[in-house]
Amino acid sequence: MEIKLTRAATNRTRPEDSALGFGQVFTDHMFVMDYSKDAGWHDARIVPYADFSIAPSAMVLHYGQAIFEGLKAYKTPDKKICLFRPRDNFERMNRSAKGLCIPEIDVDFVMKALKQLILLEEKWIPETLGTSLYIRPTIIATDPFLGVRASNTYKFFIILSSVGAYYAEGLNPVKIWVEKHYVRAVRGGVGEFKTAGNYAASLIASEKAKKEGYAQVLWLDAIERKYIEEVGAMNIFFLMKDELVTPNLSGSILPGITRYSVITLAKKWGMAMNERKISIDEVFEAHASGRLLEVFGSGTAAVISPVGEIRYGEKKISIGDGTPGKTAMKFYDALTAIQYGKAEDTENWIQVIG
Ligand code: PLP
Ligand code: COI
Repeated sequence: MEIKLTRAATNRTRPEDSALGFGQVFTDHMFVMDYSKDAGWHDARIVPYADFSIAPSAMVLHYGQAIFEGLKAYKTPDKKICLFRPRDNFERMNRSAKGLCIPEIDVDFVMKALKQLILLEEKWIPETLGTSLYIRPTIIATDPFLGVRASNTYKFFIILSSVGAYYAEGLNPVKIWVEKHYVRAVRGGVGEFKTAGNYAASLIASEKAKKEGYAQVLWLDAIERKYIEEVGAMNIFFLMKDELVTPNLSGSILPGITRYSVITLAKKWGMAMNERKISIDEVFEAHASGRLLEVFGSGTAAVISPVGEIRYGEKKISIGDGTPGKTAMKFYDALTAIQYGKAEDTENWIQVIG
C-alpha cells in the first residue's frame, strides 16, 4: 500500500528539552489509515496533525472499542534514531486487536509507515538522556451505530510526542497506593490487552491515591484482593535478599515489553529472577524481616521507576533512603544505554531507522 504525504503548512519548533513533561507536545504530522470490511486497511496517509472528524455516534465513543500502544524513538550521541523493540509493540497491538474484535494490522507495513513518519519528524526527537519521542499507535471503532457489536470500520493512527519524564519525581522514588476496594481487571477480561477501558476503570482509585499524595495505584488481583498485579502505567518488581520477583502474567496484567527486558537482563546477570505470585502480605512481611531491599516499576513511559513508599490501608512502609536503589539504577542505566545507543545491543532490541 502506498503512503500518501500531505505536508503541514507551518512547522512549529520543539520546546527546550528541559521544558518537556509527558504527552503534551505533539509533532507536525501523524499517520492515519482506515478500515472497512470491503477495502481492509486502506488510504494510508501522513497528514498534518489535526483534529479528526467522527460521528457523535461513532462506536468508540460509546462502547470503548479502542486499543493503543506506547513505544519510543531515541536519538543517539552520533545522531542515529533508534526504536526499542518496536515489532513487539505492534505484535502486542495485534493481540489486543484480537481481544477487542478489531481487525489486525500488517506489522511490516506499520513499521514502514512509522519509520517514514519519524524520519519526517526527526527534529522533534529530543536528545538529552531521559527525553525521547513517544509514539502512540491507536485504533478506534468508527461505525456510526448505537447497537452493541464489533464495529465494521476503524481508524488507525500514530501520533508522536516529544517527552521527558513520566513522573514529576523524575528518577526519584515514587509513592504508591495499594488499592483495597477497587480493582483494575479480572482474569478472563481484557486486563492483558492495552485497551482504553482498562485505564478508564483505573481512574477512580488513581484520583483517590493522588488526593492522599500517592503517584499511582498498585493493583491487587480482582478475585482474592491479595496478589500483586501491576501499577497504573507500569509493571512492578520486588528485590528480595535472595531473588528478584515480578508477578507472573495472570491474564489480567499487561505483558510489558520493559518487563520482559528487565527479566532478560536479570537472568543474564545471574540474578535469581522469578515470575510468580506475590501477595501484598509477603511484601510487608519481607519488609519487616529485612528481606525487602528495593521496589521498582518498569514501563515505556516510566522507564525504571524506583518506589520509595507503599501504603496499604493503615499500613505504610518506606523502602530505601529516599534515593533510587542500586539495582533499579543498574537496570535504568543498562536499558537506557542500549536505548540511546551508548552500549552494545547484545539482545537485538534496537532498530536503527536513520
Ligand atoms: N502496565 C500498564 C497498565 C501499562 O500501561 C504499561 C505501559 O505501557 C505497562 C504496564 C508497561 O508496559 P511496557 O513496558 O510495554 O511499556
Ligand atoms: C506506556 O508506558 O507507554 C504507557 O502506555 C503508559 C501510560 C502513559 C498509559
